[in-house]
Amino acid sequence: MNIGIIGSGKVGSTLGELWAKAGHQVMFSFSRYPERLQTLANQIGFNATSGTPASAANFADVVLFAPNFWLVREAIAQAGSLAGKIVIDTTNPYRWAEGGDIIRMIDEKTSGAEIIQKLLPGAKLVKAYSSFQPNALRRSLKHPLEQRLAVAIASDDEAAKAVVAQLAQDSGGRPFDLGSLQNASLMEIPGAFSSSDTQTLDVAFKQRQLVLGY
Ligand SMILES: NC(=O)c1ccc[n+]([C@@H]2O[C@H](COP(=O)([O-])OP(=O)(O)OC[C@H]3O[C@@H](n4cnc5c(N)ncnc54)[C@H](OP(=O)(O)O)[C@@H]3O)[C@@H](O)[C@H]2O)c1
Repeated sequence: MNIGIIGSGKVGSTLGELWAKAGHQVMFSFSRYPERLQTLANQIGFNATSGTPASAANFADVVLFAPNFWLVREAIAQAGSLAGKIVIDTTNPYRWAEGGDIIRMIDEKTSGAEIIQKLLPGAKLVKAYSSFQPNALRRSLKHPLEQRLAVAIASDDEAAKAVVAQLAQDSGGRPFDLGSLQNASLMEIPGAFSSSDTQTLDVAFKQRQLVLGY
């Protein structure tokens, strides 16, 4: 599958590397220093390249949308229309204030995903990967599926959700269906399905306990 990555920081670069190693073709994009993206692709060594957000969008069967939330509009402006594409939104709607506090950028009643869906008419939006540091998937990948870190997935498009469930598995996780896009706020910080505790796979069991009650 061709995966265009818009936002190639901690989230985008880690997932891109994991998917390239699983046999997908990835294109990294969106940086102030585009040459760094080609260095990243070269370090992975195979199945990876870099380009502009527009070329990544054009290349993609699936777009991984992973910019900082305050750059969402800028990233979309550079990518152009994503109508018809499956778009995985990883964002958390926060920015940092001076002094290190984090500040929510949107109303409590909505989610980053619902705002991004409105900014991307016709895109098949899937919320995933926003609830933990994807670096934890490197360890999870070594475990059998049932013991892996849960990757919560929420979308109104069931076919798109099935594609992302396979990608979640390919990246080292265990897909966990969290229902419609309306539930995205559960996995955006500080939702019940989000966690900063990613050092152990215990988080997967904590998530299951919170959602399913066991
Ligand atoms: N970090 C986590 O653990 C985590 C977990 C789940 C979800 N998330 C969410 O996922 C999203 C991505 O997080 P992240 O941690 O990957 O962010 P990040 O590491 O800060 O990456 C953001 C990237 O955006 C690029 N960038 C910054 N300013 C730019 C500009 N003006 N124009 C173009 N590119 C610019 C930067 O690349 P250059 O420096 O090369 O310009 C940077 O690599 C965020 O919404 C975050 O809330 C994060």
